[in-house]
Amino acid sequence: MMQLASEVEDAHYARYYARKPITIVRGTGALLYDEKNKEYIDCTGAYGACVVGHAHPKVAQAISEQARKLIACHGSTYNDARAQFVSKLTAILPTKLDRVFLTNSGAEAVETAIKVARKATGRRKIVAVKGAFHGKTHGALSATWDTKYRKSFEPLVPDFAHISFNNDEAAKQTITSETAAVFLEPVQGEGGIRVPSKEWATLLNDLIHDAGGLLVADEIQTGFGRTGKMFAGEHLGVKPDIVCLGKGIASGLPIGVTAASDEVMSTLSVGEHTTTFGGNPVVCASGSATIDVLIEEGLVDNAAKVGDYFKARLLELMGKHRIVREVRGLGLMLAVEARFDVHQVIINALNEGVLVLDAGRNILRFLPPLCIQTHQVDRVIAVLDRVLEKEELARIPSSIASVNA
Ligand SMILES: Cc1ncc(COP(=O)(O)O)c(C=O)c1O
Repeated sequence: MMQLASEVEDAHYARYYARKPITIVRGTGALLYDEKNKEYIDCTGAYGACVVGHAHPKVAQAISEQARKLIACHGSTYNDARAQFVSKLTAILPTKLDRVFLTNSGAEAVETAIKVARKATGRRKIVAVKGAFHGKTHGALSATWDTKYRKSFEPLVPDFAHISFNNDEAAKQTITSETAAVFLEPVQGEGGIRVPSKEWATLLNDLIHDAGGLLVADEIQTGFGRTGKMFAGEHLGVKPDIVCLGKGIASGLPIGVTAASDEVMSTLSVGEHTTTFGGNPVVCASGSATIDVLIEEGLVDNAAKVGDYFKARLLELMGKHRIVREVRGLGLMLAVEARFDVHQVIINALNEGVLVLDAGRNILRFLPPLCIQTHQVDRVIAVLDRVLEKEELARIPSSIASVNA
């Protein structure tokens, strides 16, 4: 008898992920299916890596056509698929950021940004934000805040400091003429979908620029339409010198992008920073098709429109369920902060056909593909309503629950 995928992975795959009891075998749009063909509405988007919808036919076709033509091609030669992707990408990036380096993950995009920022400024100090997540390789981890990810691997890269979120004084004291760069997620993702105030983001932008350093926007989770604008920095009015991208740019194939001006990017010389797979033709073909679909299908606007609807419906749930403390986020990057651990809520939602992420112990996070429709959001809300009710009854004494009903 054939072994189940879960049995094989449990036997041989490193135990580094907290696994959910589901084996996903196919998907279309905002829907996923398990091996028994049970349907789920996907509010995880593969941790934000599915932007235009699962297995989009145009993306699948671009991948298969390119795979038949050429799969391996190192960055030391030119390539038509890479050139096309770079041209489409720089067309949507902020105007001055027209030189890109392609890698294989978000963390690598951040590693690149750290090296570029240090070399371009001749400074070592990096300022990041408490609650930030920038990845788990050593350099990126040094910018990431949470000690649970960091403590076993110290000492990390030196000269990283973390300032309090939305705190003017901390920013003024820490950002100096010795700071190479400030790393900012325009909306903190792993940190619990926290949107900084426009005033504070502008202060960071001005402080680092006045100090002669660089602003690095980590748009790995927020970029590519997720928040209802192509890049979330647009909500804040900041002018980054370096942008890091990843996640959904190539519809789930591995990619990281670091973008800056020619002047900033070119401070690294030939050979100082390369990677075997960066700019792979199949990934680039997927990236080109993904950008086309994103624009042709108006998915950035859909993220804004359906995101507003989704948030309004989550706020309705907050009005109804006492265990919901707050609803926050932009576009289709949303969170519900609960008063309790949300693990069981996530499992119960999964059993009812809705996949949801967490972001810390008590936060439900929603990063659906940007093609999700309002009728699918309605289904998600109906399920959440039921599972929150169940959780509430389990946690709050019945006398209180009935008063609340
Ligand atoms: C804002 C941000 N930066 C960096 C990363 C790291 O990306 P990756 O997991 O592709 O290394 C992530 C991943 O969640 C992220 O959300």
